[in-house]
Amino acid sequence: MSFDLLLDSGQIVMPAQIGKDIAKAADLLKKNELVAIPTETVYGLAGNALMPEALVKIFEAKNRPQFNPLIAHTDQFPKVIPFLQSIPELAYRLAEAFWPGPMTLLLPRKETFPDLLTAGSPMVAIRVPSHPLTRTLLQELDFPLAAPSANPFGYISPTTAQHVWEQLHTRIPYILDGGPCTVGLESTILGLSEKGEVLVYRVGGLALENIEAVVGKLKMAPKLEKNSPESPGRLKSHYAPRTSLYLGDLSDLLLEHGKEGSGILAYSSLRSDIPKEHQICLSPKENMQEAARQLFYALRRLDQMGLKRILAERVPDIGLGRAINDRLFRAQAKMK
Ligand code: TXA
Ligand code: MG
Repeated sequence: MSFDLLLDSGQIVMPAQIGKDIAKAADLLKKNELVAIPTETVYGLAGNALMPEALVKIFEAKNRPQFNPLIAHTDQFPKVIPFLQSIPELAYRLAEAFWPGPMTLLLPRKETFPDLLTAGSPMVAIRVPSHPLTRTLLQELDFPLAAPSANPFGYISPTTAQHVWEQLHTRIPYILDGGPCTVGLESTILGLSEKGEVLVYRVGGLALENIEAVVGKLKMAPKLEKNSPESPGRLKSHYAPRTSLYLGDLSDLLLEHGKEGSGILAYSSLRSDIPKEHQICLSPKENMQEAARQLFYALRRLDQMGLKRILAERVPDIGLGRAINDRLFRAQAKMK
């Protein structure tokens, strides 16, 4: 794709290229440009985590408020240890058990990580992703990559290179294509309390049961005020499709809203009273990993059908089901 695009502003831009060229991605990132990168959870919009110039571009490309801090990604935890204050023993245990993987840890930072990365917080979010393409890219760089999910602020996170292109192609030069994401939900974010407890800031692609098997009982992090700088990812109106979404029991929802114009997001079986083409089933075999992998893709497809509303079925609250229900719950509140 090498055609020019004319924006409403009258500006001419080259649309983003999609490819697997790691050298090209590394070259752009070294020049403080942005590159969308694949991770096992969702695609990220990456820039040099140590350079405010690159970070500003991330916030602008996403239309994201600067009070919303970013996650720093590295291929090896020891690479960022010099940029951190003391690291609790528990953090090493979690790192050992779950990195590389869909977990993010909040750790005390040194000044090397700019204020813009953490929205001024003394804590920085660190993640070691497992996607092979992005790991190879990170190995080529001598800086970590700041990467929020590669979607406009408030919309559904992308799980394919094509999803990123659809929404950000006028705003970034390159999308590294690593195929569809294998987890499909953003990482689970954990912090550590002074009492030595592990706190959950965001449920996500690593099931809480798996974490508890390693560190014992988890605590949910205290709820924060709306629009708090600390955790906008926990605002209700996140991950939302444009079409109104309602979550609950499908029969109840259909009684309340009617069948006409309703699309269905079902867990494991389609309904016989709604046209097939307006329904998506997350996992016919009731496999929660598969359901998680399909979730954002399904929401995008339903959002493109021109429906009056999406009725989404709550899935069982086990394993990744908690994070699926969490994303559906947040998707309910429309951005106003
Ligand atoms: O799976 C993921 O985590 C993806 C991939 C690309 O790694 N990234 C992602 O980033 O979901 P983002 O920006 O969409 O969500 C990051 C969340 C935000 O809600 C932010 O508030 C929280 O992490 N966060 C980042 N730094 C923080 C900090 N210092 N304290 C508290 N929360 C923080
Ligand atoms: Mg996000």
